[in-house]
Amino acid sequence: MAVYIVLLGPPGAGKGTQAKVISEKIKLPHISSGELFRENLKAQTELGKLVQGYIKRGELVPDEITIGMVKERLEREDCKEGALLDGFPRTRAQAEALAQMLAQKGETVDAVPYIAVPPKVLIERLSGRWSCRAQGHVYHEVYNPSKIRGVCDVDGSDLYQREDDRAETVENRINIYFEQTSSLIDYYRSRNLLLEVDGTKPIEEVSREIFLSLEKVV
Ligand code: AP5
Repeated sequence: MAVYIVLLGPPGAGKGTQAKVISEKIKLPHISSGELFRENLKAQTELGKLVQGYIKRGELVPDEITIGMVKERLEREDCKEGALLDGFPRTRAQAEALAQMLAQKGETVDAVPYIAVPPKVLIERLSGRWSCRAQGHVYHEVYNPSKIRGVCDVDGSDLYQREDDRAETVENRINIYFEQTSSLIDYYRSRNLLLEVDGTKPIEEVSREIFLSLEKVV
């Protein structure tokens, strides 16, 4: 049986940071819908051109576009043992589409670690975030600085600040999370899949909590 894990949490909770650690440890591909969109934006594909306005404004990309993109990604060879999903699903329609995609293969979502962080902390994290251009490795100027300022420790590429991390966009993304995504906490809790962790702790402690909670399930 394949293993499917969904990482849930508001913008800046640490989903991407934790996904890199977990995917390496449990050998599942890290599928980030945000990264897939950013790759398309960078390459200026048709999809990239279609979604750039939504991302710039911090709004959700429409469900049919997002679902199609993730479905195509999950059908690739490297996902045959499962995947670690980061940033998808974000709406009830996406959660149901995911359940349906997996059911067609006789699979289900196995666990949903939910990284809980209050809004005030999120703003501080996003305004200090630096991301690597080559592979999206994530740093924070205070909490997780790179060894050499402006350079990725892992692949040596430049670090940049995401356009949607500007103050006004961040606020919009957080509001949209509470309006459109936070209901998925109850959706997965009612299915006994939710594993809540305290995301305000240091990065290594959050990783440890996630691994401990996953051990019981995966
Ligand atoms: P996406 O890229 O998914 O952004 P997001 O959900 O807003 O999440 P972030 O990447 O901002 O935060 P994160 O939780 O990964 O935190 P990180 O680990 O970087 O989406 C971008 C856009 O794409 C969306 O706005 C939307 O337009 C579109 N989109 C994507 N998916 C979609 C979908 N399914 N449907 C529709 N539209 C979609 O950490 C943040 C910072 O905090 C870093 O600096 C990090 O170093 C630091 N940090 C992490 N953990 C800790 C810790 N424990 N203590 C201190 N600092 C920490």
